Amino acid sequence: MTLATPTLHTPRLRLRPFVEGDADRLYALHSSARVMRYWDSPPWVERARAGRFVERCREMAEEGTGVRVAVDRASDGAFVGWCCLVEWNPVYRSASLGYCLDEAMWGHGYATEAARALLTWAFDTLDLNRVQAEADTRNVASARVLEKVGFVREGTLREDCVVDGEVSDSWVFGLIRREWQPSAAPAPAPAPAPTPAPAPAPVR
Ligand SMILES: CC(C)(COP(=O)(O)OP(=O)(O)OC[C@H]1O[C@@H](n2cnc3c(N)ncnc32)[C@H](O)[C@@H]1OP(=O)(O)O)[C@@H](O)C(=O)NCCC(=O)NCCS
Repeated sequence: MTLATPTLHTPRLRLRPFVEGDADRLYALHSSARVMRYWDSPPWVERARAGRFVERCREMAEEGTGVRVAVDRASDGAFVGWCCLVEWNPVYRSASLGYCLDEAMWGHGYATEAARALLTWAFDTLDLNRVQAEADTRNVASARVLEKVGFVREGTLREDCVVDGEVSDSWVFGLIRREWQPSAAPAPAPAPAPTPAPAPAPVR
């Protein structure tokens, strides 16, 4: 069974199928040591990996096992990164969520916005019951994204990955349909330090 890769629009982003022309941007993303710091494999060092990634997106859609979407900024079309829903199991009604954003795009809420859009599509289209995600326990930003869209941290996979000889633990997160709130307001962030009141104007 095939699974058509969707094009989705959010207030600031466009999620769309990958095309071959994305290969250079993908290579730049996945060859960055900073972006790949907490990934489960080392940065790419061969340009051919990008072409294989795009080809694999097509295969996944043909096999009906999942979708990977490129994410662009709506205002100027700049490449933000990608987001995926893979390992779709129609019997278990489960799938896994993942994402990877260009460093220049971090800190604007884009991962949260993209993940929420893809989850909304997935819960509506695939009759999902559960979505799982995993993150390196040091990847605080990714854990926060998952919490903001409603995932619950369920446990730790001890010594889950070994990347270039570095052993790391992973957290497992789960989101169950009955807990899913597509338009949920983001979970509150820690309150900022109070701003001191402006000094009164000098009185002459
Ligand atoms: C993880 C990643 C997707 C986050 O993308 P993003 O667009 O910056 O995420 P958002 O802006 O939606 O949310 C990030 C949240 O983490 C918080 N955060 C970021 N770095 C943090 C840190 N070091 N400590 C605490 N919180 C942090 C942000 O403040 C924000 O939370 P807030 O909205 O409550 O303020 C992005 O950094 C990335 O692609 N990294 C490389 C690839 C990767 O690690 N992918 C995930 C693999 S599991």
